[in-house]
Amino acid sequence: MQHLLSMNHLTKQEIENFIKTARTIECDRGTLPMEQTFASNIFLEPSTRTKNSFYIAERRLGMDILDLNGVDSSVTKGETLEDTLKTLEALGVQLAVVRQPETGILQQAAQGLSSLSIINAGDGTGEHPTQSLLDLYTISKEFPSFENLRVTIAGDIKHSRVARSNAYALEKLGAKVSFVAPVPWRDESISTDYITMDEACVQSDVVMLLRIQHERHVIGGQQGDYLQEFGLTKQREQRMKDDAIILHPAPVNRGVEIESSLVECRKSRIFDQMANGVVMRMAIIQTLLKGELAYEYKNYQQQTIS
Ligand code: CP
Repeated sequence: MQHLLSMNHLTKQEIENFIKTARTIECDRGTLPMEQTFASNIFLEPSTRTKNSFYIAERRLGMDILDLNGVDSSVTKGETLEDTLKTLEALGVQLAVVRQPETGILQQAAQGLSSLSIINAGDGTGEHPTQSLLDLYTISKEFPSFENLRVTIAGDIKHSRVARSNAYALEKLGAKVSFVAPVPWRDESISTDYITMDEACVQSDVVMLLRIQHERHVIGGQQGDYLQEFGLTKQREQRMKDDAIILHPAPVNRGVEIESSLVECRKSRIFDQMANGVVMRMAIIQTLLKGELAYEYKNYQQQTIS
């Protein structure tokens, strides 16, 4: 695998291998050093978690890091993303982590690259595969299997790249996915049932909340009393199954999609997701850059620890 652009491109086996590799790394048994390997982090949209967890993951793997953004790179002079990536490849960079506002342009930009791997760190309303993989890793630590696990994704589905990536991946793994969303924010291109937030809280093993993506709305404005209609209130949290968990990719808008005190409640794994993000991003980088070697090393390590 050269690039990670979409969860739709991955097989069930490949998703499971990422989870296993992350677990091996977290047990401090599977890190492959990457001296003289350059990563370029290209963030043309704001980010706190993704950008910094990639930075930490790359440093923990011993990589050298080049930061590019929309202010001080030649993107401001009209250079295309495609040409920026070709330039980095010519310079000898091995990995580009790209967040940018246009949906779907990375597929085109990745074509023709031979020695540069691209990781999609969020493209417009398209996909956010590394967020999905860290979400899956977080879920895998709580439940023995994804098979028939009931997962509800609630919020601004239409504009959420996290919802899309997770819906693709979770269904592939055998989970039962439902959505909760106000009618204008539903996405009929994904064939998933819509339920109410009250139904979701009673029946779900995982309730994943999403931020309203105001920056991607043509017409702004919140939908009525959003928290009461579509959000996670204390009353709803009390009706959740005892072992159910709450996820949120963050940033969280406290008091909008989730009552503020629930961000730190017993069921919440929101900050665990962030910690898991570093480990999973190490696993992704290692898998893309080391290929089969990472897989063999992981198997060797697992044999020696069991
Ligand atoms: N979850 C996520 O992508 O957060 P950032 O926008 O802070 O990277």
